[in-house]
Amino acid sequence: MADYDFDVLVIGAGPGGYVAAIRAAQLGLKTGCVESRATLGGTCLNVGCIPSKAMLHASELYDAAANGHLAKLGIKTQVELDLDTMQGQRIDAVKGLTGGIEFLFKKNKIEWLKGHAAFTGTDTVQVGDRTVRAKNIVIATGSSVTPLPGVEIDQKVVVDSTGALEIAKVPEKMVVIGGGVIGLELGSVWKRLGAKVTVVEFLDQILPGFDGEVRKETNKIMKKQGLEFKLSTKVTGVKVDGGKATLTVEPAAGGAAETIEADVVLVSIGRKPNIDGLALDKAGLAVNKRGQIEIDHDFRTKVPGIWAIGDVVPGPMLAHKAEDEGIAVAENIAGLTGIVNHDVIPSVVYTMPEIAGVGLTEEAAKERGEVKVGKFPMLANSRAKTNHEPDGFVKVIADAKTDRVLGVWCIASVAGTMIAQAAQAMEFGATSEDIAYTCHAHPTHSEAVKEAAMAVTGKPIHI
Ligand code: FAD
Ligand code: NAI
Repeated sequence: MADYDFDVLVIGAGPGGYVAAIRAAQLGLKTGCVESRATLGGTCLNVGCIPSKAMLHASELYDAAANGHLAKLGIKTQVELDLDTMQGQRIDAVKGLTGGIEFLFKKNKIEWLKGHAAFTGTDTVQVGDRTVRAKNIVIATGSSVTPLPGVEIDQKVVVDSTGALEIAKVPEKMVVIGGGVIGLELGSVWKRLGAKVTVVEFLDQILPGFDGEVRKETNKIMKKQGLEFKLSTKVTGVKVDGGKATLTVEPAAGGAAETIEADVVLVSIGRKPNIDGLALDKAGLAVNKRGQIEIDHDFRTKVPGIWAIGDVVPGPMLAHKAEDEGIAVAENIAGLTGIVNHDVIPSVVYTMPEIAGVGLTEEAAKERGEVKVGKFPMLANSRAKTNHEPDGFVKVIADAKTDRVLGVWCIASVAGTMIAQAAQAMEFGATSEDIAYTCHAHPTHSEAVKEAAMAVTGKPIHI
């Protein structure tokens, strides 16, 4: 150790990196973490999960008051939007949580090296004018927005997800390029606050990677909420003039072009790993075709002592996946057995209703063999019906021979919470019968998971 400044040096303090640093320190390892941002917490806490949920939550309540939903419950309101205060609570949420990570770093005696890290060798990193040597280095540099060639993000008229969180005035007309997770979440925020929102999606359906039936139903629900969709459509250009944008779009398969006007354009066509300026070559590392750092099951790169986790490695770009990898990598470094089951990583879109899934889609499960599928509509769930939340369903996909659950998909107001029980059941290798015979509290939305499981091999009670 004498030669080393740290047992573990983590590069990046997002949910992957900060969690890895805390776990390493908890395990008694001398730990440092390099972060170039002014606050800890990475994309997730600063410009991702947390601020987007602050705006989703507030806009949901505004919408409930403004669209008459509260009035239906006997709550009369006079509604006025105070966007400054709404933005203020978003900023406060971020401040509170990023400050919390700084507190945890101090508590765990983790040194925060402020600045940009670049490799100078296999076990050395340059941060500003300091060179540090570490026995283990964890790359957790995360990801950033994928640019759309020829479209310049000015964060005023053409914004990425960060700019879309900070819009100072509700745009009259917003065009979202990309009908993925960010497009639907942030498109919903501004739709609820009064913008006319059009989503332009290259593929023939929104939310790639999600179960086919869930994608179609989500599209239907979002349309009912007033979002417009142009599917199988590509954007070929965006011109900005006098504070307004004109987009040229045409069918993805080719055909006649048309133009769409917008006050704000959100570019949300995916994210790419952060490797710029890291000087990976100095460490003997390279990236794959998708710009990701390849790792083995234990999060080791091909260079001994260098590990990688989170958005910068292959797999879904999700905070909870990064966090779990952060714990596992620290445990592996400490000589313990750190494991992440990548087959059971839930995914949630925080629209209203929420869209959630874990495991295989029905399409993917069918490719592997014979399956049985049980479905239950939220309309028949007493709690959802009582709360005036009729949209959605739960779907349980099980192996036809063994009954083992292969995937669960939910569209429901609290689908993000409901999916946790499905993930836990799958982690324990549950059958649909195991879920069906587990007592679920009444009246809860989760009873729909039980009834969908009952529908796999038999009949649910309430339909
Ligand atoms: P990041 O969080 O990206 O953190 C990496 C950090 O490394 C950054 O702070 C960066 O400044 C720093 N860094 C990079 N290079 C260097 C360097 N060379 N030197 C020093 N520091 C460096 N996921 C969910 O699971 N749920 C959600 O609800 C959700 N909502 C999202 C909403 C939005 C708008 C966005 C954009 C993303 C959202 N995500 C969500 C995705 C989630 O934010 C990421 O999956 C997660 O942050 C990845 O964690 P990470 O630790 O790998 O990287
Ligand atoms: P995404 O990959 O979810 O969706 C991008 C969409 O853009 C896709 O539907 C794709 O077909 C489409 N697209 C790509 N190029 C296009 C083009 N030229 N024209 C029109 N459409 C095009 O990416 P998104 O929404 O940018 O989010 C990035 C990542 O951030 C997500 O994959 C997710 O991992 C993470 N995230 C997670 C959230 C959550 O967990 N709730 C919330 C927000 C982001």
